[in-house]
Amino acid sequence: MMKKPKYAVIVDEIKEKIEKGEWPIGSKIPSQRNLAEIFQVNRSTVITALDELMAEGLIEGRVGSGTIVTNNTWTLMGQQATVNWNENVSKGIHKASMTMVQEINREESNDQLIQLSKGELAAKLFPTMTMQSVMRKVSDQFTTLGYEEPKGNILLRQAISNYLKVRGIDASPSSILVVSGALQALHLISIGLLPRGTSVLLEKPSYLYSLSIFQSAGMELKGLSMDREGVKIQSISQLQKEKQILYTIPSFHNPTGITMSDKRRLELLEKCKKEQLPIVEDDVYRDLWIDNEPPVPLKAMDHSGNVLYLGSLSKSLSPGLRIGWIVGPESVINRLADLKMQSDYGSSAISQRVAAEWLTSGLYEEHLKNVRGQLRIRRSAALQALNTYLSNVAEWDVPEGGFFIWLRIKPDFTVSRLFDKAMARGILLNPGNIYAEDTGQFIRLSYAFASPDDFRKGVSQLSKIFQGAGEDYYY
Ligand SMILES: Cc1ncc(COP(=O)(O)O)c(C=O)c1O
Repeated sequence: MMKKPKYAVIVDEIKEKIEKGEWPIGSKIPSQRNLAEIFQVNRSTVITALDELMAEGLIEGRVGSGTIVTNNTWTLMGQQATVNWNENVSKGIHKASMTMVQEINREESNDQLIQLSKGELAAKLFPTMTMQSVMRKVSDQFTTLGYEEPKGNILLRQAISNYLKVRGIDASPSSILVVSGALQALHLISIGLLPRGTSVLLEKPSYLYSLSIFQSAGMELKGLSMDREGVKIQSISQLQKEKQILYTIPSFHNPTGITMSDKRRLELLEKCKKEQLPIVEDDVYRDLWIDNEPPVPLKAMDHSGNVLYLGSLSKSLSPGLRIGWIVGPESVINRLADLKMQSDYGSSAISQRVAAEWLTSGLYEEHLKNVRGQLRIRRSAALQALNTYLSNVAEWDVPEGGFFIWLRIKPDFTVSRLFDKAMARGILLNPGNIYAEDTGQFIRLSYAFASPDDFRKGVSQLSKIFQGAGEDYYY
């Protein structure tokens, strides 16, 4: 049988994608260069294939927007026009993430890159064997796998209650809601507790700026300045009175790595109580201390129910479990539990039982000891690499835990340009401007994911970009 020419194979594959609706009408198809890479052919073969698809009326080249799918065979046959989903994409209620954030999210699974961006433990730090045995044990106990209670599996909530007690928080299972990661907690809070027009006061920079959660719910983020002890209390009173809440990441802050001091925590609580400002305390990095345990959570000192407390197993054990929690007054937890039921009818029952086993067996605390030791090694290797390669162009503080080093770059440069240049050298980093537009010249590096050797290689590549200064990286 005669072999099909290469261009015809490409035509067939693209047609199939259009027919199956994977590339619906209105979608942009990959560039010629990307198609050549995907199909492992040279560009002229791709061009022949595209010409054929254009001749058939399936795609169309549009100036400024690339090549677009304009028809599928059904529409060509003159049948009822299909919905143009792409037209609707921009009309949804929820705002899109910044383009750069979307790109980072995509590239974080590209294993060809040195990942200096990832807020996740390295695969080597994942307790594979223990997880396997925990899962085996849990699966032996399955009698059913139905939905769980609205607030989450009772064994897990009891286990979280005990876990919190050790960290100074007294919370009964009825005031705990199990969520699919702290991110879901933020979503539930944004839609369930606050009217449109609320201002969310938060550290500037903050992880929250890299998302569109509160803005999509009609709220505005208002940044508060920080110093080495955390958010500055004076910056709170400077803001006008209106419906407001305060969101803070007091321990090993993302992205700066700053831990709020004991004194500042007390002052903040005092201030918020006086101003009747509810607090959302995002404490997902708490367990990842390297030098000293961070000061007790704000929630531990809150006796008036002013603080909603968020925790998660994502950073310390496994983001794949998608298990986190919200702790707060029962009426608030009941409201959020109802919304959660409307959204996903509960977090995975399997994950919940696995999480409960980790916490109740003591294996989680054992695992933390190992993780802290490994993070200490990685942090020290990272600092050594930074001292060797970037000390003349950047400055940073040493984080006492968590994953991140927040680098201030001294020479003038445009962050997006640096991001592109780093990518071209196979390095993914998080530019500071995704954590608030006008943060200045910062980048966030993570020492948790890349191996110490890769971290060093990555940083040495970055130094080369700066050595090439004078050329074009400034603008
Ligand atoms: C401060 C902070 N809160 C919440 C999250 C989301 O965590 P989870 O995986 O528990 O949803 C992250 C993850 O990057 C984070 O840095």
